[in-house]
Amino acid sequence: MSNSIQILGPRGNTLSVHAAGEGATLFLLHGFPLDHRLWQHQLPELCGRLHVVAVHLRGFGSSTLDEGQYTLAELAQDVEFLRQHLAGNEPIWLCGLSMGGYVALEYWRQFSRNLRGLILSNTKPTADNAEAKANRIAMAKQALEQGSWAAVEPMFAKLLSEQSLAAQPELVELVQAMMKTAAPAAIAAAQTAMAERRDFTDQLHAIRVPTLIVAGEVDPIAPAEEGRKWASLIPDSRFTVVSGTAHLSPLENAAAFNRSLLEFVGA
Ligand code: MLT
Repeated sequence: MSNSIQILGPRGNTLSVHAAGEGATLFLLHGFPLDHRLWQHQLPELCGRLHVVAVHLRGFGSSTLDEGQYTLAELAQDVEFLRQHLAGNEPIWLCGLSMGGYVALEYWRQFSRNLRGLILSNTKPTADNAEAKANRIAMAKQALEQGSWAAVEPMFAKLLSEQSLAAQPELVELVQAMMKTAAPAAIAAAQTAMAERRDFTDQLHAIRVPTLIVAGEVDPIAPAEEGRKWASLIPDSRFTVVSGTAHLSPLENAAAFNRSLLEFVGA
């Protein structure tokens, strides 16, 4: 059982998390356009060993979007604010999936002294090219004009593997429910922020905290072969491929994901 916690952020915005367990703190940052339900197998299954905090990024779940547009650097500052209030000001393990991984890299850039280590799942360190940026701006516009599902439906087919679709029909329902309940303004703000994200490729060699890179075996958005290459640029890194999964490895094969994570953090 996790507790839902709402905290008044430094700018008067509400930041919400689901938290459970005791011990060293692990923050979980969801991907786009999802929420804490992405971590439905991590919260209950890791909380016996760790204090697990699943964060809602601004605009998602019950975290508010009061100020409208933000940058990924500001989302990392939200994480730091939450660390100070929920982790007793101690260093944290930080795990981010896809967009959450982009935020985790931003956190490392600004606050590496507060990290025990990073888990970067189904993500990439690169920035967008001009075409990808234009697609994001088009998606932002479509969400505001036609609603969330119209904008994000084309993405759905890339999230789950054939194997997950065949063996776990309840995942289709869950993932679509998350995508449909994401607010149009949250979709637009996230796409705009991701379009402007920094390229971390040239900084990977400077990451000095233990880092686990997790890739989905058949992830079309953050391909495993790319993950293996960029993991090799981080000095103290491990790389693992979660079998049978596409872009949502922690949800599609929770047993393998959790095993790798627990072994990595030594909990
Ligand atoms: C995500 O899962 O967060 C998205 O695929 C990230 C992206 O659009 O680059």
